[in-house]
Amino acid sequence: MAPAVSRSGLVPAGADPDAYDRLRRRVLWSLPTGLYLLGTAAGARRNLMTCNWATQLATSPKLVGVSVENGVHTYELLREGRCFTLCLLRREDRAIVRKFVKPASDDREARTLSGVPYRDAPVSGAPIVASALAVLDCTLVHEVPLGSHTLFVGEVVDVMAPDGDGELAVLRMEDTRMSYGG
Ligand SMILES: Cc1cc2nc3c(=O)[nH]c(=O)nc-3n(C[C@H](O)[C@H](O)[C@H](O)COP(=O)(O)O)c2cc1C
Repeated sequence: MAPAVSRSGLVPAGADPDAYDRLRRRVLWSLPTGLYLLGTAAGARRNLMTCNWATQLATSPKLVGVSVENGVHTYELLREGRCFTLCLLRREDRAIVRKFVKPASDDREARTLSGVPYRDAPVSGAPIVASALAVLDCTLVHEVPLGSHTLFVGEVVDVMAPDGDGELAVLRMEDTRMSYGG
């Protein structure tokens, strides 16, 4: 028998839709991911958003993808400004991501977003939080509509990281009790 389609996607024939939905969400939430601040800019507007759906997608060119819900402020700025920064955070810097899971307040004079100081990336102009451990600065090269979200693919045009060649101890989803998606 073909899988049935429910509001929340495909459900195998004979499965209880609610139980299946819970199981699928538990497994999807278990996919290991990082946890980043995604910076966007368009004209004088700046924004930062907490994001865990981010990954490298190609080596030549160096492409990084972020999947962003349609209609959020970040989505609008990505479409308009066509660039983004991905700020990698210190492992102990969990508190900062909590500030950017809802729309941020932008104080352009103080150059803060929700009270957090930022500067503009030298190449793209998208914001970088002062406390970032490392940063990928990207210009937008592809946009792929996926339903609820759009995959925005950027080419890395600049990178910032501490000197040395040691592994960077960056924040991951598992360092928090947060989840997203499912
Ligand atoms: C742990 C966590 C991870 C998140 N990851 C994403 C993500 O990858 N993509 C996305 O569109 N929203 C993600 N969100 C939701 C956004 O942070 C949230 O919708 C935010 O308010 C959007 O900000 P904006 O409207 O200023 O763009 C995540 C939320 C949490 C709590």
